[in-house]
Amino acid sequence: MPSNPANVCFHVRPGGALKGRLRVPGDKSISHRSIMLGAIAEGVTRISGFLEGEDSLATLNAFRAMGVAIEGPEAGKVTVQGVGLHGLKAPSGPLDLGNSGTSMRLLSGLLAGQQFDVELIGDYSLMGRPMRRVTEPLAAMGAQIGTTPQGTAPLRITGGRGLKAIDYPMPVASAQVKSCLLLAGLYADGRTCVTEPAPTRDHTERMLQGMGYAVDVNGATRCLESGGNLHAVNIDVPADISSAAFFLVGASIAPGSDLLLEHVGINPTRTGVIKILRLMGADIELLNGREIGGEPVADLRVRSAKLHGIDIPLEQVPLAIDEFPALFIAAACAEGRTILTGAEELRVKESDRIQVMADGLRALGVKAEATPDGMIIDGGSIGGGHVDSQGDHRIAMSFAMAALRAAGPIRIDDCANVDTSFPGFVQHAATVGLGIDHGVPVITIDGPSGSGKGTVSRLVAQQLGFHFLDSGALYRILALAAHQRDIGLDDEAALADLCRSLDIRFPAAVEQEQVLLEGQDVSDQIRSEAAGAGASRVAALPKVRQALLERQRDFRIAPGLVADGRDMGTVVFPDAEAKIFLTASAEERAKRRCKQLKEKGMDLVYSDVLADIAARDERDSSRAVAPLRPAADAELLDTTNLDIEAAVAAARRLIKKYLNR
Ligand code: S3P
Repeated sequence: MPSNPANVCFHVRPGGALKGRLRVPGDKSISHRSIMLGAIAEGVTRISGFLEGEDSLATLNAFRAMGVAIEGPEAGKVTVQGVGLHGLKAPSGPLDLGNSGTSMRLLSGLLAGQQFDVELIGDYSLMGRPMRRVTEPLAAMGAQIGTTPQGTAPLRITGGRGLKAIDYPMPVASAQVKSCLLLAGLYADGRTCVTEPAPTRDHTERMLQGMGYAVDVNGATRCLESGGNLHAVNIDVPADISSAAFFLVGASIAPGSDLLLEHVGINPTRTGVIKILRLMGADIELLNGREIGGEPVADLRVRSAKLHGIDIPLEQVPLAIDEFPALFIAAACAEGRTILTGAEELRVKESDRIQVMADGLRALGVKAEATPDGMIIDGGSIGGGHVDSQGDHRIAMSFAMAALRAAGPIRIDDCANVDTSFPGFVQHAATVGLGIDHGVPVITIDGPSGSGKGTVSRLVAQQLGFHFLDSGALYRILALAAHQRDIGLDDEAALADLCRSLDIRFPAAVEQEQVLLEGQDVSDQIRSEAAGAGASRVAALPKVRQALLERQRDFRIAPGLVADGRDMGTVVFPDAEAKIFLTASAEERAKRRCKQLKEKGMDLVYSDVLADIAARDERDSSRAVAPLRPAADAELLDTTNLDIEAAVAAARRLIKKYLNR
């Protein structure tokens, strides 16, 4: 699957706990159905709590395109002027359903019985998803629907075909197939029955019944007769348990968490995630249970707990089908082995969720083995690193939760589709304690002194309009500030506090190499011998290093950052978008240093400077803490034979490979 052109990345800070209360957005499945059934009902349907995500908006826009007057959404409120079962009009062009499988599969049933032709299309992911599961039974009812030879969209539906009722045993447990055929059954001659091999979500049946349309439910079989009418009602959409699931997992795995998720739909065909998490040892309480518009709702209180691995019960698989990406993260944090089987459906969701999750988990150092119909995960520790969500919203949000237990930051690529189901995810997550920096790119430029990294970094920052961090200067500034405030260079706790409170800025002005401390230009002072000696003392203190690490990461501010130093790509920003390691021969660096010193009025012997540089190289690259070496994914740039202009141009070319800048 190609990457989204506007690559939205999540950079998630490690650790922390989830606390407080949260109402996640409205249920996606119910939001889709409220528009579809509201549109073909008699009268006005008023919806509240509607999910303003791209998927449900795709459904809303499709019905607008078929002549239905719809007001909103505004703060979750939508008003649908129903046109009755036979009032839809031919749209003027194809209906684009974006990323939404539910829209396409349910609409194919609803539209197969109309009098007009219509074409259904979607994005790259949706156009690759299997549609024969709906087109084959619809064809058996007499519908005419063209697909690609692979059985995928575009779906070309020919109108004016009289549909016949069928009695259909579904080969896959799919609420979308069941709903599609029941909607087609509204237009078919006779009594349409579908039998599901395992229970799946029943929102369509509930909503049809709520609108006064008889659906017979008998064991695994649902039947309806054509010829009736739907009557508009008010629909209050509960919060989506599939969106709440990320937080159920996040709060379970993050020590010290205590979170209340409000007004969550707990329809028994959707609560597999709660059952599975409880089997793993999760602490989830259902409070204040009530029924809203035919759907059960409760507030969910979740506290962190020690999870253990389980064999996931087969019968829970269709009841938690959308929650497995999140559950895999729970399994990665659990003690022991978790085994999922019977979930081959995960391979044909918005992405191949078995493969993409296994790849992502492995990239974070988790032992995860993809199987044809599930996954085997051995829980343990999660490392920081870089994963690709492959444009799958639920995978992006699941890995964001993984950061709560990760040893380092996690960068997640291709997150734009989070808006399909959970608009405002980053903000919601922030209110309860998850730190996501959203799409702020970092370029790291590391290397030994004399490689040109300082000048190249400033120029690159200036040209891109990015912020600039001279990380080496931070140690010197701290020593200087401690001196100014009479703080001893061995007072670790006071130094760490000081480090957190200082106002430090690096205007990316190449000529001046300016550093501002509390608004004062301290560029010259920090270059003094005393500041240099102080810097090496404070740099050896672990609490100071930790506080400095956080300070350095705080420089990651939109529109972007160029960070210059020695461990920027390896330690501070291991998730940077582009990493460059500058080198130059020791001879060339010695030459540059001599020239620099000469300009300052000092005359040194070239061979002494060269010997000094060689000794420092050896010390820097062999020290135990943050040794000077290129990150495994850094681009090497040798500036020995390049002047500054050429070095900057070469750096820009390398950056372009990773960032569209
Ligand atoms: C849905 C049914 C499920 C689910 C999807 C929404 C629905 O799909 O994965 O997100 O609203 O009917 P399947 O029916 O393909 O299992």
